[in-house]
Amino acid sequence: MSNIEKTLSIIKPDAVERNLTEDIKNFFIDNDLEILSSKKIHMSKEEASEFYKVHQAKPFYDDLCTYLSSGSIIVMVLEGENAVSANRKLMGATNPKDAEPNTIRKLYGISIDKNSVHGSDSVENAKKEINFFFKD
Ligand code: CDP
Ligand code: MG
Repeated sequence: MSNIEKTLSIIKPDAVERNLTEDIKNFFIDNDLEILSSKKIHMSKEEASEFYKVHQAKPFYDDLCTYLSSGSIIVMVLEGENAVSANRKLMGATNPKDAEPNTIRKLYGISIDKNSVHGSDSVENAKKEINFFFKD
């Protein structure tokens, strides 16, 4: 049975800076995820801290928020069959060193922090994250 979902994807500053936006967008399109909305923004550290607040107890939280607000990012709504898990599969493991071949993080990630993309980890979080950036 068909299960069309939406998920939130972010192209992080390391990838935007290296002009990988089009390559990453095409990777999604070529793998059956449609880009419904896309915008380039530059978050303040406060906004990044709000977005990543699920990680506030983690030792990497402050660096993560500083990093995500360090440059322009592309936020996108992706749609497709099982889009949440499909996107996570296309992204690859959090640490590019552990990512499967032909995943975004394996192809483009530099390190565990500069890992080129964010993707929602559940349907529930996808709804919250889409609403965070794209309020109608
Ligand atoms: O992004 P993903 O869902 O794969 O990983 P996460 O566990 O939700 O962590 C969010 C982000 O924090 C990661 O994408 C990394 O950029 C960063 N992180 C880090 O810098 N150091 C870690 N040990 C774990 C995560
Ligand atoms: Mg996550």
